Amino acid sequence: MMQFKKLTDFSPVQLSGQSVFIRADLNVPIDDAGNITDDTRIRAALVGIRFAAEAGARVMVTSHLGRPTEGELKPIESLARVAESLGKYLGQSVRLVKNWISEEFSVADGEIVLLENCRGNVGEKSNGAALSKTMAALCDIYVNDAFGTSHRAEATTEGMAHHAKIACAGPLMAAELDALTTALANAKRPLVAIVAGSKVSTKLTILDALAEKVDLLIVGGGIANTFLLAQGSAIGKSLAEPDLVDEARSIITKMQARGAAVPLPSDVVCAKRFSPDAIATIKAIGDVAEDDLIFDIGPDSAAALAKTLRGAGTIVWNGPVGVFEFAAFSDGTRVVAEAIAASSAYSIAGGGDTVAAINAFGIADRIDYISTAGGAFLEFLEGKELAAVAVLNERGG
Ligand code: 3PG
Repeated sequence: MMQFKKLTDFSPVQLSGQSVFIRADLNVPIDDAGNITDDTRIRAALVGIRFAAEAGARVMVTSHLGRPTEGELKPIESLARVAESLGKYLGQSVRLVKNWISEEFSVADGEIVLLENCRGNVGEKSNGAALSKTMAALCDIYVNDAFGTSHRAEATTEGMAHHAKIACAGPLMAAELDALTTALANAKRPLVAIVAGSKVSTKLTILDALAEKVDLLIVGGGIANTFLLAQGSAIGKSLAEPDLVDEARSIITKMQARGAAVPLPSDVVCAKRFSPDAIATIKAIGDVAEDDLIFDIGPDSAAALAKTLRGAGTIVWNGPVGVFEFAAFSDGTRVVAEAIAASSAYSIAGGGDTVAAINAFGIADRIDYISTAGGAFLEFLEGKELAAVAVLNERGG
């Protein structure tokens, strides 16, 4: 249940001249040269920032970037590039305030400043009370608009919300929760989940939780390889976690007992080495050799999944089914992506790799809701309470 106050509940008169602290998730991918390679999260944060600034609030925005060591921020972990990008979108220069905990600074009415990477502050990760109180004292209204970090109980995502005079959710946070709740609460059946990625271990709890809820659990990538092992198929040298075969088997059994299924590929695309120019060979699953590496699902498997996806009522997508970044191993993910786009099912997708695949295949406008979150998206699907949302609810509407 969402019982929190929202930033958009405040009128311009109520916001004008107020210090508004927005915790956003501007944790964007940055290449070695320091360039932002995907600014989706920056664009998604603009609505809340504009709402406050246009009302004449004194707007402070912060975010984490990466996982720095507290007190030892490296130049590559600075939000400087993010400030530039925000400035371009907002049409005004966005000042980056560096030592915002130890030094005083001021913000003018209607001005937007970016407070340097909050994970550089000592006490952020451990949700320290002293840091939370100091930060809460900076503002009249605390806004959490960082759905992507809402599963973390850190000082800017959770601690501050206890101490701020007013704590509320930003428009992105509210929209994400709304879309995901709508999709799952009364999901139109069949409900199909695609969970792919390199390791079962990182997604075991989500697989377990989904096995109780969905009609079809499509696994992909290294996860599928572990499931293939569980059904007794040889996978050569492919990435898998043999010690999790029992867990995979119990998920299959659990699904079957409910009349649901985990469809596994009948054919795959293999190569002898991991390289964009490796020779790709399509093989029936029974023909995978000892020195093969599986990098994608085969055309028969992709066609079968596409058919299923076309008939789905709701589709939840996290993770590409193959190494789609390499052309020779991208067909499986492309066929699945296009089937989701063409399906009349309500479709939601989340996670960095998934969003990259959606953009690579140009289907973003045909997915009903694309979440800006990765880990938080998965925890929400698991049915876990998100720490940052819980405290906003506690503070009430
Ligand atoms: C993400 O990228 O999933 C969020 O920004 C959270 O980042 P974290 O996993 O470093 O907490």
